[in-house]
Amino acid sequence: MPDIQIMPSILATDFGRLAEGCQRAEAAGADQIHVDVMDGVFVPNISFGPDVVKMSSAVVKIPQNVHLMVIEPQNYIKAFADAGSDTILIHIEAKCDVEETLAAIRALGKRAGITVNPETPVESIFKCLENRWVDEVLVMSVHPGFGGQKYISAVEGKISTIRRMADWVDISIDGGIDNETVVSAAAAGANLFVAGSYLFKQDNMAAAVSGLREIAQDNFCKAV
Ligand code: DX5
Ligand code: ZN
Repeated sequence: MPDIQIMPSILATDFGRLAEGCQRAEAAGADQIHVDVMDGVFVPNISFGPDVVKMSSAVVKIPQNVHLMVIEPQNYIKAFADAGSDTILIHIEAKCDVEETLAAIRALGKRAGITVNPETPVESIFKCLENRWVDEVLVMSVHPGFGGQKYISAVEGKISTIRRMADWVDISIDGGIDNETVVSAAAAGANLFVAGSYLFKQDNMAAAVSGLREIAQDNFCKAV
């Protein structure tokens, strides 16, 4: 069984206390920090650049899972790698040579990931799996750009398809994950769970992180 991991998204923290948000996630038992990078072109919002990854990797020991919602990710791979990213995820919908960009991520010694938007067919990423260009596939369960949106359960079919094709790959799900939506996401075959607003609004974040992990373990692949 692949490792079940919980990745708080620091998009949901108080931006005036970003470092504390990262430390709070680590202290709560999070497995990785999820950093949402938005360029205002690929998505209608602007968030963080490489310096935020540099800060986060300096204040916590857990890995940095960096989600690039940018139109031309190939131009920023080195900057995000140098900043301390452990995994760099690009979008299949971005304007880049996907094979080359994923290879560039690995050439810098980082884990490479491909992300698929809710409306994008799963077939678009088959070549990434067939050729093993990726370590992680991120399935978006909201339209990228903002935290706090409603979970789109229709994407679960894509997760099951990916899991049936590739038992070796990490499948992350991002958007609207809480103690209810995690059930069917895990059942479909996801093993990495990004959660922003649900985790950061908790009084007891540690209990919520372990709660999500336990529910995911109990339900993993039940619907595959
Ligand atoms: C959306 C981001 C998500 C977001 C998740 O574009 O990719 O990572 O922060 O936030 P919640 O968990 O609040 O839906
Ligand atoms: Zn994200």
